[in-house]
Amino acid sequence: MKITPITPTIGAEITGIDLEQPLSDHSWQAIARAFADHHVLVFRDQVLSRESHKAFARRFGEIHIHPSKKHAKTTQDPEFFLIDIKPDDKGSNGEVWHADITCEQQPPYASLLYITEVPKNGGGDTLFANMHDAFDELSPSMQAYLGGQQAFHDGEQDLRRYGIRLKPGQYYPAHAHPVVVVHPFTGRPVLYVNEAFTSHLLEMPLFESNLILNGLYDRIRSNPRLHCRVQWTPNMLTLWDNYSVQHQAVFDYQGYRRYGERITVSSPATPKAYSAAS
Ligand code: SIN
Repeated sequence: MKITPITPTIGAEITGIDLEQPLSDHSWQAIARAFADHHVLVFRDQVLSRESHKAFARRFGEIHIHPSKKHAKTTQDPEFFLIDIKPDDKGSNGEVWHADITCEQQPPYASLLYITEVPKNGGGDTLFANMHDAFDELSPSMQAYLGGQQAFHDGEQDLRRYGIRLKPGQYYPAHAHPVVVVHPFTGRPVLYVNEAFTSHLLEMPLFESNLILNGLYDRIRSNPRLHCRVQWTPNMLTLWDNYSVQHQAVFDYQGYRRYGERITVSSPATPKAYSAAS
């Protein structure tokens, strides 16, 4: 197995492994270490059954069920969230920087997206940004200030981007989380606000919350030191850590199809505030 970093700080491609086969302990340990170090792992040329996709996901924890599936009346294979963009679609999932479903009380830890069909015009890349570095690059006084704040993550705010409005009696998650959380496995601090889900900071006027959040979102979008760009090829799986990174799907392929299936893996606990002393 070979691990090739995409940039010095985020992303790596892993070759020499067939995820359709059961993983040896040695391979699993190398993947787990690479995941903690690189946060985004790319596995090209994998022919994966749904069962193998689930089995690999379970190495990282329990499979999480997307809220849209939890409350649906009929669901076949509820573990899979489909990314099924058709040629006449006018947009795609995840075009705004985000980590997956942070509006939940216990948002998912890892995501494993298996793309089988890539747009024939060569588009449909995914961008990732390192949220440890986004925090580490802030001044100590800003880190300390943000470390005392809580933010509200509103699922309905994200749904509205897709033209979806909840009807009376319908439910979609919304929860407050600390702005700076501790990574549940590595103990590193993470800047934990994202443009898709985080609507406002608690206990301050909205104009102050907008100043701070828009400044942070602008920095996440525009700081290339934080970024890597993943170009998909057919039958490729990308694994990312929703604490360590945010991502953005690039919709530059109108008129073409893109198809994939994503599994998310539950966090061990709700996001906890980072304390420099811990
Ligand atoms: C997502 O999980 O937001 C989708 C990412 C992608 O389609 O590349």
